[in-house]
Amino acid sequence: MKVTVKVPATTANIGSGFDCLGLALPIYNEITVEETVMPGSGVEINIIQEVETYDTLSIPKDENNIVYKAIELLYNFVGQTASDMKITIKTDIPVTRGLGSSAAVIVGGLVAANELLGRPADEAVLLSIASEVEGHPDNVAPALLGGFCLASLEDDGSVSYSKIEWPEDWKLTVLIPDYELDTKIARSVLPEAISIQDAAFNVRKCAMLIDSVYRKDSEAMKKCLTDKLHQPYRERLIKGFAELKELLANKDDILGCVISGAGPTILVISKNNGFEKVESEVKQVFNDLNVACDIRTFDIENEGTTVI
Ligand code: HSE
Repeated sequence: MKVTVKVPATTANIGSGFDCLGLALPIYNEITVEETVMPGSGVEINIIQEVETYDTLSIPKDENNIVYKAIELLYNFVGQTASDMKITIKTDIPVTRGLGSSAAVIVGGLVAANELLGRPADEAVLLSIASEVEGHPDNVAPALLGGFCLASLEDDGSVSYSKIEWPEDWKLTVLIPDYELDTKIARSVLPEAISIQDAAFNVRKCAMLIDSVYRKDSEAMKKCLTDKLHQPYRERLIKGFAELKELLANKDDILGCVISGAGPTILVISKNNGFEKVESEVKQVFNDLNVACDIRTFDIENEGTTVI
């Protein structure tokens, strides 16, 4: 028996919501999990790219693969040992770009294995296992549920989460550069501790951000996309981010720009056709820096993971 699932890309943090906010984008990976009938055949992992755009060579193809690790945890949860299996990952989500490619395969593997096992785990269990493997819940929650999600990883390993309706006319543009940034490196530049002033800044911005989405208030949202926990430290790793912030400040229908997850992709949130009006200037910023950049504008993805 085999199960295939489709999982969306995600963009985490959304500025001030470090490690707790994220939303889903309509770029997908497909993950197929198949229990193999030949005992002792081990784990086989295949990665397929329709167009060979991203380097997937560094992804482990054995028991060390994060998809297999997540599946093992699920089997342990139901008191079983993971059997020999074949996992196929058809990937369209850019790798190491801050678009949740690891969260997508973790969630995909878990949902597929959960189907194979007869659905013993509910949403909350899947999110808890996925966050344990990923280290934070802000990508895995929207990867599973779609939409704009709030997720808090609790001390006991459970995840508190909620999905809030995203305003229909708020568009999401991702600027995906042609270089990679490992999340481990992007986390290593963060300080061990921050000041009470910076913590208070983020608490108020994050609170107002959630309220702005809830009330669909774009003017309020414009004031909420700054943060003092991670972006100031990561900015030097993200080519063009400082220039774009300056360029897009106070532009009509541009709500703001933030680092997508740990970067290097940059997310621009706009209203109506706001991004179209600034697109040529944005391209010029990247041209001046000699950075090739794939620019894509989407509506939010609301379905999350689906079995196909
Ligand atoms: N919240 C995580 C971070 C997202 O910023 O490191 C990484 O995908």
